[in-house]
Amino acid sequence: MTDLENARRWLAEAGRLCVLTGAGISAESGVPVFRGPGGLWRQYRAEELATPEAFASDPRLVWEWYDWRRSVVARAEPNAGHLALVELERRAADFTLITQNVDGLHERAGSRRVLKLHGDLWTLRCTGCGAESENRAVPLPEIPPRCECGALLRPGVVWFGEALPADVLEAAFSAAGRAEVFLVVGTSAVVQPAASLPLAAKQAGARLIEVNLEPTPLSALAEASFHGPAGELLPQLVEAGVRQ
Ligand code: OAD
Repeated sequence: MTDLENARRWLAEAGRLCVLTGAGISAESGVPVFRGPGGLWRQYRAEELATPEAFASDPRLVWEWYDWRRSVVARAEPNAGHLALVELERRAADFTLITQNVDGLHERAGSRRVLKLHGDLWTLRCTGCGAESENRAVPLPEIPPRCECGALLRPGVVWFGEALPADVLEAAFSAAGRAEVFLVVGTSAVVQPAASLPLAAKQAGARLIEVNLEPTPLSALAEASFHGPAGELLPQLVEAGVRQ
């Protein structure tokens, strides 16, 4: 059997399936990735835009950048890769989709059980009273936006130097630990703790499948590694293994 046939069978037969996605899955929807060609961190300095210190010193600049990212994502549509993962969820008895993405495209595609490790572009959190609210205004009418309590609102995302939400992280490691198959899609697999999830899954006995444009640090550990666009490869991996 070829690698593709093997991987299709593993995905079709796994009762407990876990998927980790990164910016690469949304690239074909027109949402820029962070690293590599065209990546956001080649154009912008993360420490000036995505840290608590940056927000404290220039909330307007930080919010202008997030307002721009929100406008890019608002124009984007989920692609065939997102949709293939919805199909995988429909089939597996125990399915968890863990994402590092903050764009909300998995939910818009129809994925239900999504653990968002790095938060959500469409959630605003008050720096004063801590209240969280969904906000889909594009562009924001006021920058920086303010809470009813008067304090500044911040994007509901995890910045560099901040802890990930503990309950989400715990659920992610629990899903990784019980997965029979762990599929990693479109992540450079260099940002912790997300990058440890595939390793934890493998240590607990999962088969690792990777989909990425190019080799990553995980490729050598994966039972099958496919290099190409997720929007093309994921439908191929999912379609032919249908278990009704
Ligand atoms: P990166 O930008 O680091 O990596 C994107 C990965 O997607 C690369 O490995 C690309 O090769 C791959 N890729 C690009 N286009 C693809 C396509 N069409 N199909 C398949 N793969 C493709 O993004 P992440 O790994 O998600 O964190 O980055 C992790 C975190 O670093 C982000 O969540 C963000 C960032 O700083 C925070 O903001 C906290």
